[in-house]
Amino acid sequence: MGPIPLLLLLFLTVLSPFSRIKAEEDFTWEIKKVPLVINKKTVTLSSPDFKAEAKRELNGTCGIECQSRLPLPSVSDLQDFLSYETVYENGTRTSTEVYFRNFDMQAEHEVIKDSHSRRKRHVYGMDSRFSISDKQFVTNYPFSTSVKVSTGCTGILVSPKHVLTAAHCIHDGKDYIKGAKKLRVGILKLRSKGGGKRRKGSKRGKREAKPAEIKPSFQWTRVKRTQVPKGWFKGVTDDVAVDYDYAILELKRPQKKKFMDLGISPTVKKMPGSRIHFSGFDDDRPGQLVYRFCSVSDESNDLLYQYCDAQPGSSGSGVYIRLKDPESKKWRRKIIGIFSGHQWVDVNGQQQDYNVAVRITPLKYAQICFWIHGNYAGCRDG
Ligand SMILES: *[C@@H]1O[C@H](CO)[C@@H](O)[C@H](O)[C@H]1NC(C)=O
Ligand SMILES: *[C@@H]1O[C@H](CO)[C@@H](O)[C@H](O)[C@H]1NC(C)=O
Repeated sequence: MGPIPLLLLLFLTVLSPFSRIKAEEDFTWEIKKVPLVINKKTVTLSSPDFKAEAKRELNGTCGIECQSRLPLPSVSDLQDFLSYETVYENGTRTSTEVYFRNFDMQAEHEVIKDSHSRRKRHVYGMDSRFSISDKQFVTNYPFSTSVKVSTGCTGILVSPKHVLTAAHCIHDGKDYIKGAKKLRVGILKLRSKGGGKRRKGSKRGKREAKPAEIKPSFQWTRVKRTQVPKGWFKGVTDDVAVDYDYAILELKRPQKKKFMDLGISPTVKKMPGSRIHFSGFDDDRPGQLVYRFCSVSDESNDLLYQYCDAQPGSSGSGVYIRLKDPESKKWRRKIIGIFSGHQWVDVNGQQQDYNVAVRITPLKYAQICFWIHGNYAGCRDG
């Protein structure tokens, strides 16, 4: 589908024959207790080489059947996977070991606990993409939370100066990718054609300006720090690395756009209409922000499998669910995952293709929240 008008988009979103409007309206966010992921020890490592090539597709991902043959990770395994690397703009790299407090293995493995009720693999829902062509719309919430990462991915604003994206957008599992050395984030802003800022003049001046001259373009900001969980690294979690395909980028300067809140991913059964949404900068539509929503086909404890239409470039998009606040009656959105991308998944020895998103489990929530806030106080409930 090409660009479509805003009203039609809203119409489709709300009145799609597949939507379970009731479920979406009645949904309330279930607040969950968050464990603590605490820094134990930080050591300085040598600066990364930044020599890896960016990857477009991951092959041989250990899928649900494959992972179900693996033993459940122990607490010490999980502490290893959630330990992390930090790289600063000046090339300094540190590695931090973590330990947990108030950790609940059952809550962390909610889906496995529920596995008897696993959903049939089945495609439904509207798998179509919409280019957000309205220039006001694209620079306003929620679409304005989507940002372009200079390595060719998408990210989402999760604080005035933090962007959540996929780990593979900066690291291939062995080394940081070339473009990650001078990483930048592009935020869509309305600017006049010449590239300057929108002119703030008198009322009369504004009326004279032709609307066609104002259009969205990226304003680029440098990244001063990146953080990636060790679970993504080769040799740490070979079979489940995709479960840790996420990273946080800290911007050099805070920006003023509204960001989106994070939450612990509910099981698919508890998602309004089993539906997820995300917007990204798909390669096949240069310069356009592309929005889509679809139903989740299957889930493991750490991944959401779906057939949302997506092209490379949309990797790293924030995957959110939408719910109506019963009191204010307003729509609320929460990021519950990170879009990893198209993947060949091992399903009983056969390769099957899926689009995969990493779900935010209680531990991942605690970790990402700590990376953003730098303290535990703001991260008690998810
Ligand atoms: C991944 O595997 C699929 C199916 O086995 C194959 O068609 C595709 O070319 C592979 N891609 C890469 C990048 O190796
Ligand atoms: C690089 O930046 C970090 C964080 O600002 C700082 O702690 C470190 O000392 C710096 N390293 C060098 C070599 O300048």
